[in-house]
Amino acid sequence: MEQTEVLKPQTLDELIQILHQIFSSDTINVEEVQNIMESYESNPLDWMKYAQFDQYRYTRNLVDHGNGKFNLMILCWGEGHGSSIHDHTDSHCFLKMLQGNLKETLFEWPDKKINEEMVKKSENVLKENQCAYINDSIGLHRVENSSHTESAVSLHLYIPPFDACNTFDQRTGHKNKVTMTFWSKFGNKTPFETALSHENN
Ligand SMILES: [Fe+2]
Repeated sequence: MEQTEVLKPQTLDELIQILHQIFSSDTINVEEVQNIMESYESNPLDWMKYAQFDQYRYTRNLVDHGNGKFNLMILCWGEGHGSSIHDHTDSHCFLKMLQGNLKETLFEWPDKKINEEMVKKSENVLKENQCAYINDSIGLHRVENSSHTESAVSLHLYIPPFDACNTFDQRTGHKNKVTMTFWSKFGNKTPFETALSHENN
């Protein structure tokens, strides 16, 4: 394949345009996508309208549905908010920091036959503009804003999109399927009725 130079998106809109071009074909070059995500320098003016927080837990806010090929969303983490340990439903997952820091803890898949504490593989703090990548063959992870004074905002790209995944109990490895919904879509708050199933993940 021809080597192309890394495109540097100047705005979030430009990044979205580039992602549409890249995913018009079915092949995914993880490193290329990670580089492009990382090269966008976060500017709050670009993403403020999507950054809608909840007092009690982190929120998922849809930015673009990528013609059905990918989902791009902004997650807003208040002080101390964190996810469960979860998998990624056979999708590629890119996580780019837009503001603040998040701690990512990687875990091994639990052994179904044994009830025991899940095994930690690594722990990493993601800083502004960094982009991490995970898929099910790498393992499971938990993401948390361990700061008690600062909120965090992250940009997540999932290819292909999914709306259910498994969460895992750290002490036993038991899994639980959960459906995920959006707190807002395209900058508009999701109506209360459809947000009710927003649980657990
Ligand atoms: Fe994740």
